[in-house]
Amino acid sequence: MNTRVLTGITTTGTPHLGNYAGAIRPSIQASARPDVDAFYFMADYHALIKCEDPARIARSRLEIAATWLAAGLDPERVTFYRQSDIPEIPELCWMLSCVTGKGLMNRAHAYKASVDQNVARNVDEDDGVTMGLFSYPVLMAADILMFNADRVPVGRDQIQHLEMARDIAQRFNHLYGQGEDLFVLPEVQIDEEVATLPGLDGRKMSKSYDNTIPLFEGGAEAMRAAVMRIVTDSRGPGEPKDAENSHLYTIYRAFSTPADSAGFRQALEEGLSWGEAKKRLCDQIDSELGPMRDRYADFMARPDRIEDILQAGAQKERSLSVPFIERLRDAVGLRRSVAAGAEASVAKPKGKPARFVSFRDEGGKFRFRLIAGDGSELLLSEAFDDPKAAGAAIKALQQPQALQALAREEGGRVSVVLDGRVICGYDAGAAGAVEEALASMGS
Ligand code: TRP
Repeated sequence: MNTRVLTGITTTGTPHLGNYAGAIRPSIQASARPDVDAFYFMADYHALIKCEDPARIARSRLEIAATWLAAGLDPERVTFYRQSDIPEIPELCWMLSCVTGKGLMNRAHAYKASVDQNVARNVDEDDGVTMGLFSYPVLMAADILMFNADRVPVGRDQIQHLEMARDIAQRFNHLYGQGEDLFVLPEVQIDEEVATLPGLDGRKMSKSYDNTIPLFEGGAEAMRAAVMRIVTDSRGPGEPKDAENSHLYTIYRAFSTPADSAGFRQALEEGLSWGEAKKRLCDQIDSELGPMRDRYADFMARPDRIEDILQAGAQKERSLSVPFIERLRDAVGLRRSVAAGAEASVAKPKGKPARFVSFRDEGGKFRFRLIAGDGSELLLSEAFDDPKAAGAAIKALQQPQALQALAREEGGRVSVVLDGRVICGYDAGAAGAVEEALASMGS
């Protein structure tokens, strides 16, 4: 059995060099392994949470798809799709929302950070917090659980989301699995090996710091222009440079063999000028990215080709999600056919606990029934004037060993007596079922 690896890419921006080295390249390499079934998708529903500009969302989806394809993703090997092409995902998201505690979501880092910012600004805690942001982790859980992914490669900031996905999966399995696991519990995968590139100012390259080097957009010129802006120290030509602490060297290493980067390092230590070093860095990056950049331009010029690839991806994906959502609908009681529902109530659902149901009878008195897990009635109580007395009777029955102490058998009938009065009775033949039911409820 192959390992299922799944990851999502939020479609809000234009991929930069850091995305390439840190996510795109390693993901494409991982997808080529024979023991891996990779599912990579564009998380465009997630993008809506962060971005309300339709043009930007549309543009970003296109650029990201073109980038991954140009970088060598093989859509024949990998299931590559757009989240919004899969209607089963929001459907599953709703099912999961119904079993997810609000308290669990209250603990999500992203939501808490927004609340903290609001508190610091002295505005309402939930100012600007949408339900999308609040339930972000549930949608992400749906993305992952829909395919029963074994491993999810993500950045450190996503670890909590994976833990939440596992929590939600476990709860759903417990509620609806009838002893079987509907969902695989996904494992987070944090790649320590993967390169984190410094940005122009030396901090981690990130859109939010506005310090990125463009990957394909703008062509080689845009990349060169950005590289020329990478900060260096003030050592002049001929002065030995501290390669180990130079951002240029860190980036160079991410695009070269150890032998190449040793040569670059030596040149720096021997006084290579920063200007010359930047040129060499660009050439080095271009030796890898050059051919991809051409393919990127081709894809961007033919969005219909990208669309065909994504449609094929969605079809491949849905051959899994459509039957699976049917199974999940069955599990929660939302079968598509009403006839199937009738069948289900005849077939004994096993493993469900018994329960007490209280009600008022026609005379206005308070009574309760004990209902077995399969829905059949095990006993009907006597009538109580006071709902508290009925409640006390239920409580007494739920005590372990209560029945032995309280039950009197006479002429094939069992009467349960509490504080000198009969609270309920049943046929002696049903005693086993009643005891079992009470035991199944615990105390
Ligand atoms: N939240 C992820 C991020 O911001 C993107 C994402 C959405 C994702 N759904 C996912 C990642 C499912 C892995 C699996 O990086």
